[in-house]
Amino acid sequence: MADEAATERDGESADRAAPDTLDGVWDDAWSRLEAAVHRRQHPYRTCVVATSGDDGVDARTVVLRGADRATGTLRFHSDRRSAKLAHLLQDRRIALVFYGDGVQVRARGIATVHAADEGADAAWAATSAMSRRCYLTSAAPGTPSESPTSGLPEELSMLRPPLELTAAGRDAFAVIAVRVHSLDWLHLAARGQCRAGFSREGDRWMSTWMVP
Ligand SMILES: Cc1cc2nc3c(=O)[nH]c(=O)nc-3n(C[C@H](O)[C@H](O)[C@H](O)COP(=O)(O)O)c2cc1C
Repeated sequence: MADEAATERDGESADRAAPDTLDGVWDDAWSRLEAAVHRRQHPYRTCVVATSGDDGVDARTVVLRGADRATGTLRFHSDRRSAKLAHLLQDRRIALVFYGDGVQVRARGIATVHAADEGADAAWAATSAMSRRCYLTSAAPGTPSESPTSGLPEELSMLRPPLELTAAGRDAFAVIAVRVHSLDWLHLAARGQCRAGFSREGDRWMSTWMVP
């Protein structure tokens, strides 16, 4: 497995030395996550989010919208009508996986859906017209269609609709906040992988090195 991972690593940017303390690893993981929120090109800007429900497990890509090491929280935005939100109503456990520049970070936690509070209002206010379009489809995401469709009403099908035309999307918009309870960090390097884990116990984070 380690060799396979190292092979995948080939061709990416040169190895950065792995931190040699657990505090350094913690800083490395959260620095990546926090930077990605503000940098579109950051490899952690998108992640894979896994949820589960009565119909089984599923995973999909989302954009990371918030990361805060002080509270151990990650945030993303989604449509209240989507399958992932239906999953979270059934089971709030969630996992997010990030990879880039030779480091994988896996976060597991408990999700809270904020649909109608001040935090969601503020996030909506800060959302561009382009991003708001995603919440303006007439039918819920995943609704079958007889032909290829954006799902958008005609007047919103332009690339960047005027902001005032996007207000109706607020109803479908939600912020998903994840209280992380465990974080797994894996550093790939040809000379040997390195792995560390962090888990929340009460107010404290316990940490350990692990065999990769
Ligand atoms: C690069 C990329 C970024 C995406 N960002 C988001 C996002 O931030 N929120 C979201 O709900 N869906 C996002 N999507 C769409 C989801 O991957 C998914 O197709 C959609 O949310 C429906 O998922 P569900 O049926 O599992 O709920 C993104 C897809 C891609 C490819």
